Amino acid sequence: MSQKAIAVLTSGGDAPGMNAAVRAVVRTGISKGMKVYGVYRGYNGLLAGDVKELNLRSVSDIIHRGGTVLYTARSPRYNTPEGVKQAADFCRELGVSGVVVIGGDGSFRGARDLTNEGIPCVGIPGTIDNDIACSEYTVGFDTAMNTAMEMVDKIRDTAQSHDRCSVVEVMGRRCGDIALQTGIAVGAAAILVPEVEYDLERDVIARILENQSTGKKHFIIVVAEGVGKVNEIATYIQTRTGIESRATILGHVQRGGSPTLRDRVVASAMGHRAVSLLEQDIGNRVVAMKNGVIVDYDITEALNMKRVFDKELYDIAHTISI
Ligand code: F6P
Repeated sequence: MSQKAIAVLTSGGDAPGMNAAVRAVVRTGISKGMKVYGVYRGYNGLLAGDVKELNLRSVSDIIHRGGTVLYTARSPRYNTPEGVKQAADFCRELGVSGVVVIGGDGSFRGARDLTNEGIPCVGIPGTIDNDIACSEYTVGFDTAMNTAMEMVDKIRDTAQSHDRCSVVEVMGRRCGDIALQTGIAVGAAAILVPEVEYDLERDVIARILENQSTGKKHFIIVVAEGVGKVNEIATYIQTRTGIESRATILGHVQRGGSPTLRDRVVASAMGHRAVSLLEQDIGNRVVAMKNGVIVDYDITEALNMKRVFDKELYDIAHTISI
């Protein structure tokens, strides 16, 4: 029987910990006697034939690096029936009988389509946003939050010196998880997320004035990207309270940097699980975390799941930010 070959790619926005997942896929695959190809720049690499066989040493010295050594892309050309077919034909020519796709929901839709074209795929949730419904954790989330926390701590220093209010936007697309946890960690006076309706008077101004009446002079307001409008919010706060206010959008700094321990460990365990599935020719799965344990789901089932926002934690944040 010929040697089994699999491929691994990273797709969509990069996330710290993707390299740890790639490393785990390569080393697990090789330890099981497989050939492992790295595909460059997401699904584009399958269209352009941009692949390279990786060996044990190809993935040395990457576990601690941010970004992705395989590069990444969003690939509109792949997202057509012809694109998927071309990618599947390329896999067959190369002898690849399974692909590990590290990315978010969009990347998993691509993995489902490639599976339907005859190439079994397994997804690993790799995104800073923590917005994959089937998994309570996505690789990159912890690092991004720690980066955001460090940045807001610095902003707090200057806000304190000037008795100002700083309104800080953190990433997360339509998901408020980065904002919620970072907001708690930095002691924000208010946290605005897309999952919970807000009223600026009630949820921001009244809280600032209440805090001010007990002696507080500087304020941090954390706003999720899905809420946005930080400049408008800062102007509104200044007009209504007289407190000098500044807006900061943290932006892509949150996507970089060396992954935290949590991201390295989760990525390694998920990478291992993905290859174990492909070893048994099981595709169309997404690896996920449930109650702290690594599990896997059918991709279609996973894509249809609804995310549950942690309203209890949100209410706790509200209670203790007085
Ligand atoms: O999905 C990760 C993410 O960083 C989101 O938080 C953000 O909305 C988006 O990607 C930004 O994408 P781009 O890198 O294309 O600007």
